[in-house]
Amino acid sequence: MLGHDMLIKHRKSILLLLLFAAICNIIVYLYIMERKTQATQTSTTFKTKTTIVRETETELSQLADNEVIAGLGAMGRAASGNWTKAQLLAMERSERETGYNAWLSEHISPERTLHDMRHHSCKKLKYPMEKLPTISVVIVQYNEQLSVLLRTLSSLRKRTSPKLLKEIILVDDGSDHDNFTDTLQQQFPSLLLQLRHPKQLGLMQARLTGARKAKQDVLVFLDAHVEVTRGWLPPLLAPLLENNKTCTTPVVDTIDYENFAYKRGKPSRGFFDWDFNYVQLPLLKKELAAMPAPHDNPIMNGGLFSIDRQWFFQLGGYDEGLRIWGAEQFELSLKIWLCGGRLLEVPCSRVGHLYRSGNFHVQYTKSESAIKAVGRNYRRVAEVWLDEYKDKLYVNMPHLTHIKVGSLSKQKSLRERLQCKPFKWFLDHLASDFLALYPLEEPVDYAFGTVQSVAAPNLCLDRAESAIHPQLLPCDRDLMYPKEQQKWSLSYFRDLHSSFHCLELQEREPQAEVWLWQCHHQAGNQFWFYDSNSKQLINGQSKADQRCMEAAVAERKIVANICNSTNQRQQWNFGYVDETRLEDFWNNVPET
Ligand SMILES: *[C@@H]1O[C@H](CO)[C@@H](O)[C@H](O)[C@H]1NC(C)=O
Ligand SMILES: *[C@@H]1O[C@H](CO)[C@@H](O)[C@H](O)[C@H]1NC(C)=O
Ligand SMILES: *[C@@H]1O[C@H](CO)[C@@H](O)[C@H](O)[C@H]1NC(C)=O
Ligand SMILES: *[C@@H]1O[C@H](CO)[C@@H](O)[C@H](O)[C@H]1NC(C)=O
Repeated sequence: MLGHDMLIKHRKSILLLLLFAAICNIIVYLYIMERKTQATQTSTTFKTKTTIVRETETELSQLADNEVIAGLGAMGRAASGNWTKAQLLAMERSERETGYNAWLSEHISPERTLHDMRHHSCKKLKYPMEKLPTISVVIVQYNEQLSVLLRTLSSLRKRTSPKLLKEIILVDDGSDHDNFTDTLQQQFPSLLLQLRHPKQLGLMQARLTGARKAKQDVLVFLDAHVEVTRGWLPPLLAPLLENNKTCTTPVVDTIDYENFAYKRGKPSRGFFDWDFNYVQLPLLKKELAAMPAPHDNPIMNGGLFSIDRQWFFQLGGYDEGLRIWGAEQFELSLKIWLCGGRLLEVPCSRVGHLYRSGNFHVQYTKSESAIKAVGRNYRRVAEVWLDEYKDKLYVNMPHLTHIKVGSLSKQKSLRERLQCKPFKWFLDHLASDFLALYPLEEPVDYAFGTVQSVAAPNLCLDRAESAIHPQLLPCDRDLMYPKEQQKWSLSYFRDLHSSFHCLELQEREPQAEVWLWQCHHQAGNQFWFYDSNSKQLINGQSKADQRCMEAAVAERKIVANICNSTNQRQQWNFGYVDETRLEDFWNNVPET
C-alpha cells in the first residue's frame, strides 16, 4: 500500500491544484459524512425576502437568525463582517456540525452574484441554442442545510436558460428532517420535483431513482452544494450534439467552507491510482495548446456530469450492487470509455463546489459499515472492469480479496452485450503518462508509517485534509499501518510524503513552520533524510543548509531549526525503517 502515490509529477504544482486534488478525494466521502452527522437543522423558516443592510457593529449584533445581509459574499467574495463574539461562536458551532460555516451561509443571499468565471475566449463561442437538448437536473441530498440547497437551486434557475432547464429532481435520501419540502416547492413551483426516501439508499441508488423519473433528453447530475456560473450549460451540452455517447464534466471550482469565497479550479485529467484513490493529472501538451477546447477526461470526479438519458440507461446506469458511496465514478467512467463512448472535461463550463472542512471529514471516515461498503464496491468494479490489472490493486489492498461482493453476472453480461473493450485499451489510449507516474512496479520506501515525536511520544505528525501545515496530533494505535492522515513515507524520491502531500521547507529562519505541498519530486526544499541513529529528520542536501524537523509541542506545530542532536524535540520514530535501504540513501542522489 505504500509509496504508490508519491509519483505524481506536477512540475508546475501550485497550492490551488494541491487543495483541489485533495478535496476531490473528499467528494466520495461526503456521503458518509453527511450520513453520520447528527447536525441539527435550522428550524426557523427561511426568510429570503428579508434583505437588511447592516452597517454598524451594533446593528450587526442585532442580526436575527436567517436574515440575509445585503452584499455579503456578493460576486463570490469571501463573506466578511465585524462579527460579535457570540456570532463567531455560532459560526464555529455550525462548522463543527456541518463541515461548513452554515451560520454564515444563512446570511448570504441564495441569489448572490458571482463573477463570470469563464476564460475570455469562451465568451466568444456561439452554441446552437435551438438544437441543444433539454435537461433534467438530478440532485441527491442528505441532511443538507436549507440555505445551501436554496443557493444551489437559485443559481441553477438564475444562470440556466429555461428553454434548456425543464426540471430539477431533488432526491432526499433519508435525511433526518423532511421539513424543507414545502418551502422548496413554494420557491421553485414549476421546476422542482421532489422525491423522498424514508430510509437511505446510498448515493448511487438514490441518483438512479431520480434519473428514472427524469423526462428530458439529457441528465445533468449535480451535488446538492454547488453554484453554477454564467454560461455553464451550453458548452456542457454541445459535445453531445456531435456524438450522443458523450459524457461531459465541468471544471470544478471551489467554494470555501469557511467564508464561501468562490475560487477558480484548474482543468485536469482525472484518474485513479493503484489504491483506487481519485487523482488528477495535468493536461497533455496538445490539450493545453487546444484550450479551452474540451479534452479527454479519463475518470470523472463523480459529483457533476451530463449524459444522454437513454445512453445512461443503456450503460446500466450505476451497478445496482454498489452501496453507499465509493468507486461509482470509476465504474461509470470505465463503462463510458470501454463501451463505445467518451468522457470530456469542458473548460468553458464552470461549477463551484462547496467542499467540507477536512476536520469534519476526519471525524466520520471511521464508520465500519462505510469502510466495508467501499471495499466491496472497489472489488466489484475491479472484478468487472480491470481484467488482469485488478491484481495490481489487490497487491496494494489485499483485504479486498476477502470481501464477498455478491453476484457479478449482470455486470459481466452487460460488458459482453455492449462488447466493451479490455481495460488495457483504456491504459493504451488515455494513460500515456499514467504508468510512468504510477508504475506497476513501485520502488520500496526507506521508511514508512507514523512519524512519532520522541519528546511527546503520544503525538504524531498528521495532515488534516486540505490543511497547509502538518500538525501534531494523538498517534494512531497502529504505528506501522496508521490511518491515512498519519501515514508517511520516506520515498524513493527522497521526499517525505503522505499520499501526494509532501513536507516542504520554505524558509530557513529559526522556528520556520513546515508546509504541506504537492510533491514535486525534484528534491530541493522537499528533500528529507532520516538519520536512524540520531532519529533526526533532516531537510536539505547540502550540510550548510540543513535544518531538522522539530516538534513545537505546546502549539502542536511542526517547525524546522538548525540541527541539534541533543534536542529531544528534534527526535522522531518512524513506524518502520528499512535499515538496509537507508544505508544506500546517499548513493546516487540525483544532482539538483
Ligand atoms: C424541522 O424539523 C426539526 C426536527 O424534527 C424541528 O426541530 C423543527 O422545528 C422543524 N422545523 C419546521 C419549520 O417545522
Ligand atoms: C469593520 O470595522 C472596521 C473599523 O471599524 C471598518 O474599517 C471595516 O470596514 C469594517 N468591516 C466590515 C466588513 O464591515
Ligand atoms: C444517437 O445517435 C445515433 C445516430 O444518430 C442514433 O441512431 C441513436 O438512436 C442515438 N442514440 C440515442 C440514445 O439517442
Ligand atoms: C541543543 O539542545 C539542547 C537541549 O534542548 C540545549 O540545551 C542546547 O542549548 C542546544 N544547543 C544549541 C547550540 O542550541
